Amino acid sequence: MALLQIIYTSTATVSLDDRALRDMVAGASRKNRRLGVTGMLYCAGGAYLQIIEGEEAAVIALYADILRDDRHDDVRSVAIRPIPSRDFANWSMALVDRMPEPIDLGQVLNRHGDRIGIWNHAAWQTIVNTFRAELETVEP
Ligand SMILES: Cc1cc2nc3c(=O)[nH]c(=O)nc-3n(C[C@H](O)[C@H](O)[C@H](O)COP(=O)(O)O)c2cc1C
Repeated sequence: MALLQIIYTSTATVSLDDRALRDMVAGASRKNRRLGVTGMLYCAGGAYLQIIEGEEAAVIALYADILRDDRHDDVRSVAIRPIPSRDFANWSMALVDRMPEPIDLGQVLNRHGDRIGIWNHAAWQTIVNTFRAELETVEP
């Protein structure tokens, strides 16, 4: 079974308060469990970074739904890659709403656009690892 991972960033069109964000993630987690999809959603300052991973067809179908969601726009796919194993096997959809060192998504994408290019997988793996290390400090 081929595993695929998609990483994208987007801009929130509606500002979800804490409760609404947690409700959305709870719904997403339920559906992801059904689909065998795992991953995380980072939400900071009106921007999202999401990582979804799982069986190729399930991930592509889910991404098509997410792309159509009008709660965000300006969706930029930053990495679409086959993976040998999951980075977020324990999380049907982990919500990361704070980091000890906030990650400025605008900066990641724009200012370092040449360094952390879309297909620079090593750079993206570093970012993925940073998030996962943060998640591993709390219970899955
Ligand atoms: C930033 C963002 C991230 C989302 N992530 C997920 C997700 O991981 N899984 C999911 O099922 N839906 C996610 N959604 C919701 C989907 O866009 C869509 O509303 C949902 O999959 C539809 O589910 P339904 O089958 O109940 O219609 C996300 C929406 C937004 C705005």
